[in-house]
Amino acid sequence: MTISEWLQQESTEISRLDAELILTHFLDVSDRSYLVAHADEQLPNTQAIDSFAERRASGEPLAYILGYREFYGRRFFVTPDVLIPRPETETIIDIVKAQRPDKILDVGTGSGCIAITLALELPDARVSALDISNDALEIAQKNAAHHSAKVDFHKSNLLDNYQPEPGTLIIANLPYVDTNWDWLDHKSLDFEPSLALYAEQGGLELIYRLIDQAPANCKLLLEAVPCQHEAIINYAQAKYPNGSTKDYIISLSD
Ligand SMILES: C[S@@+](CC[C@H](N)C(=O)[O-])C[C@H]1O[C@@H](n2cnc3c(N)ncnc32)[C@H](O)[C@@H]1O
Repeated sequence: MTISEWLQQESTEISRLDAELILTHFLDVSDRSYLVAHADEQLPNTQAIDSFAERRASGEPLAYILGYREFYGRRFFVTPDVLIPRPETETIIDIVKAQRPDKILDVGTGSGCIAITLALELPDARVSALDISNDALEIAQKNAAHHSAKVDFHKSNLLDNYQPEPGTLIIANLPYVDTNWDWLDHKSLDFEPSLALYAEQGGLELIYRLIDQAPANCKLLLEAVPCQHEAIINYAQAKYPNGSTKDYIISLSD
């Protein structure tokens, strides 16, 4: 079977893009344009390729099937123990790069995509990261080694076992999904770890606890959905009346 015949066959079951990404993975080529330029090339044995397409057709995320996902232009290993890095989280990198902090803590690091990217993009910054999950920390450490990024990893339930230094920018993409949100396609999240997704109190439980624990001399940059922003800012302001919010960063001050 040729490349173009396989793509035609699979495009009825999965998206054309996913089919092309599966083929580029198996052919070990970096660019999908290869598939157009070599449309008549024979595929040696399609059994393994077909099995990837079948898994994708049954709903499994492509990142888990391939074992990696791109984030801010770099490849990160992922397993079902970590959240698949999302493109919207790349906004955090742009915001932090504009601020150029010298001390960064990534709370709930998962694959390590935020901490590792910031360590590489801001080589003068000291970057630490923590997670409650040993399995996630293992993947994050593997990614840091792969990218030769210097990040200090710690196991901690939020800030229970880790005290940020004064002036640290604390970044957190914590679980913020409420299981009752019916507007969300929960089925597509079924493959990802619940520990990485769901939180009580309308999804805000962990974010509130982090605000409670964060020292007054630190800054916070949090990922959440827009309908949660006002509640988060109000909560931080009640706790830190002299704090302020500017350019998405919450400055904590008593
Ligand atoms: C939404 S994922 C974010 C992963 C990664 N930072 C990213 O942006 O792709 C949340 C992460 O927080 C971790 N987590 C959940 N509860 C936690 C807690 N109480 N303390 C520390 N980490 C926690 C999960 O294990 C998961 O890795």
